[in-house]
Amino acid sequence: MGGALPYQLRLSPDMPGMLDLPWSVPLESWQRECPRFVEVQAGNSRHTVVFISYDDAVFALKKLPLPAAEKEYRNLKWLEDRRLPAVLPAGLALPLSREPGRDEAILITRFLEYSLPYLHLFRRSKDALPPDTLLDALASLLVQLHLQQFYWGDCSLSNVLFRRDAGRLQSYLVDAETAEAHDTLSENLRRNDLEIAGENLGGDLLDMQALGEANTGIQPAKLAGDLLDRYERLWTELNETVYIRPNQAFQIESRIRRLHEMGFSIGEILLEPTELGDRLRFKVTVTDRQYHHNLLFSLTGLAAGEEQARALLNDMAQYKALLTARHNRSLSLSVTALHWLEECFRPVERALAARLGPNLDAVQGYCDVLVHKWYLSERAGRDVGLAAAAASYADEAARKPRDPGAAGPAAGQ
Ligand SMILES: Nc1ncnc2c1ncn2[C@@H]1O[C@H](COP(=O)(O)OP(=O)(O)O)[C@@H](O)[C@H]1O
Ligand SMILES: [Mg+2]
Repeated sequence: MGGALPYQLRLSPDMPGMLDLPWSVPLESWQRECPRFVEVQAGNSRHTVVFISYDDAVFALKKLPLPAAEKEYRNLKWLEDRRLPAVLPAGLALPLSREPGRDEAILITRFLEYSLPYLHLFRRSKDALPPDTLLDALASLLVQLHLQQFYWGDCSLSNVLFRRDAGRLQSYLVDAETAEAHDTLSENLRRNDLEIAGENLGGDLLDMQALGEANTGIQPAKLAGDLLDRYERLWTELNETVYIRPNQAFQIESRIRRLHEMGFSIGEILLEPTELGDRLRFKVTVTDRQYHHNLLFSLTGLAAGEEQARALLNDMAQYKALLTARHNRSLSLSVTALHWLEECFRPVERALAARLGPNLDAVQGYCDVLVHKWYLSERAGRDVGLAAAAASYADEAARKPRDPGAAGPAAGQ
């Protein structure tokens, strides 16, 4: 297969060699020519994008002009270094030929597991308004990028992937071709980025209505405005300068608590005297929106979305109370975490995998079981317990038609 390699391959160190791919055949024909091809639900794209799999790992390959591919690869690396929510770059195939038609590069990214393109979200609830959670997820992504001085230039529904995050959605940037990292993002560029996001969202929704994919009752322009309002509220909250008196230090703590509660990690606290007598200027720099994710990861090694992590940490706190009562002494959070992992999380993970298959998103599954447990307990008027809730949840899920987005891509031909 393939013949001589017409590219220089630059791959991340943990990547498969990929030499068995049919590199000399145009990407457009890989569906037929490549046994590793997999069918995946994807958003609209200008370029040819195909998905291929090596065992459990799936990769997206996108063909685009060399300068654009290099730029996008650089941008995705930049985002990865700052652990911002975006697809992860995995490699770049640089064409050896300069001949028109054969001079395009191929960008390789890791398939974002358990992600859903927006179309899928809409199709599942055709008659519903786009959920607030979708607008919140988009606004949050834009804010996180802007806080790091990153200009996107093409925020649209097709350029975002959504992943369930407990009761919310988390969004990830998928297309960084137009993006630019700045030392300082000017107010003009920030406004321009928001304008593009609003226009694209409005346009995407109009298109979907025209295609009968979205409820005709929705008002695209209103939703686009709503996105910008949500963004503005969050941005103001994070960037607000507050004036406090030296005896009001508690305000510092309550602001930090509030930001942590919203999921933001704090980089720096700035306090400085002002011309306003004894008033101090107080400002906080936030780094990422992964406060609970980071905490959960350091305690258990589990990688979760921010909301998922919050739900799991709450569950852990309840378990801590139970253990304290059982052992008649208080356990540290790190010891509790190990008990919780072995006695709560892992048994549920095994029960779900046994019933629903190994491809399930275990963290989201655990979050769903917690919600299910709450419902069952409310109905029964007593705590039904985790094991019973997991069994009942798995029974119900096994009866439902399988959610194509939940278990990653389907196997190809
Ligand atoms: N790494 C990835 N993981 C999951 N889906 C992806 C990935 N890369 C691309 N996609 C899907 O392919 C679509 C098109 O990719 P995109 O980079 O936006 O291409 P284009 O530059 O042609 O617009 C996206 O909307 C998304 O659904
Ligand atoms: Mg795109």
